[in-house]
Amino acid sequence: MLNPIKLREDFPILKRLVNGYPLIYFDNAATTQKPVQVIQAIREFYEKHNANVHRAVHTLSQEATELYEGAHEEVAKFINAESIEEIIFLRGTTEAINLVAYSWGLRNLNQGDEVLLTLMEHHSNIVPWEILSKIRGFKIKYVDVNEDGLLNYESLEENISRRTKLICLTHVSNVTGVINDVKRVVKLAHDYNALVLLDAAQSVPHMPTDVKALDVDFMAFSGHKMLGPTGIGVLYGKRQHLEELEPFHGGGEMIRQVSYNPQTGRCMITWNRLPWKFEAGTPNIAGAIGLATAIKYLKRLGMENVKVHEEELTGYALKRMAECQKVTIYGPKDPRQRCGIISFNVANVDSHDLALFLDSYGIAIRSGFHCAQPLHQRLGLPSTARASFYIYNTKEEIDRFIDVLKEVEQL
Ligand SMILES: Cc1ncc(COP(=O)(O)O)c(C=O)c1O
Repeated sequence: MLNPIKLREDFPILKRLVNGYPLIYFDNAATTQKPVQVIQAIREFYEKHNANVHRAVHTLSQEATELYEGAHEEVAKFINAESIEEIIFLRGTTEAINLVAYSWGLRNLNQGDEVLLTLMEHHSNIVPWEILSKIRGFKIKYVDVNEDGLLNYESLEENISRRTKLICLTHVSNVTGVINDVKRVVKLAHDYNALVLLDAAQSVPHMPTDVKALDVDFMAFSGHKMLGPTGIGVLYGKRQHLEELEPFHGGGEMIRQVSYNPQTGRCMITWNRLPWKFEAGTPNIAGAIGLATAIKYLKRLGMENVKVHEEELTGYALKRMAECQKVTIYGPKDPRQRCGIISFNVANVDSHDLALFLDSYGIAIRSGFHCAQPLHQRLGLPSTARASFYIYNTKEEIDRFIDVLKEVEQL
């Protein structure tokens, strides 16, 4: 069991007053707050070990390299990857998806091929594919969702065919919190020889993740949504796929050799081994160390406990929000079908006005489309307000949130 009151002491920002009120931070789907352990690890790196990695033989560089490679190990174990060869550090989920698009898609998708996306994808799992489809001429098909925002598995079965080369799917919707049945989608995809790219931005931070059990081909997630710093994220890829891929970014560190051939006037280049082949240039060393520290923190809490805590908060929030006459909640009513994300509206109140009103009481929520406009269109929603929870949130905070929602209803 998590003790949110105790662990709140690790988060300096939660002691802040916002507009004269204690901060209630319900915008965790956008980014989470950072514990002192993560802040301290980054600080310690710069104070004691700062040097570039993989380049020099001096002591600091050796230390930095050890810490940086150790961060790959930590991530690999956390998601049960085979080895660090399968863990590529990038800026975040967005960059990881773009890597798959440009390293894999650019060379493997042709006219006549199809890529399946779903209507609940975040823009970062739509836009790269739409851009690439204009270049390569393959077709994109969107799998439907039902009125509750749940994935329509019949629509998936109707759309998949031997032409399907890739399914891009979010594990958890960042709007409705819906949890998709990834194993079912992967099984179907593999039956058709298609690959699966899982957007795990909203799942890895909130539940135990086992890439071997899920059997996904690629998986992307961001450090900043799981207590880590911004600017660091992960692409997991099955080793056999990553071995076959050409790099996305070119530069230093990702090559084994660059040799100039005077006969041809060109350079011959061979790639570095995995995962360095995909990590061109000086990486975000401090970010990786921060992420590894965040993972250690989460592991200490236990990911199963994290999940249970969020389920409890979500169930409680759904129950209390149902008391509000003018509040409409989107997504499934059953808390077991969703994560700790609740999108909603108050009748006749614009979502941005609502967020501003809550902010005047120190309550931070998100408003708008949450980078998922097609889903809003599909559900017929102009925009929504979104409350999203994490390990340090409490039922008392939800009670305070409900008090303010009830005040809004009286306006
Ligand atoms: C489901 C989902 N995918 C992708 C992203 C993009 O993550 P990032 O901005 O860290 O690259 C987000 C961020 O909100 C998200 O919720």
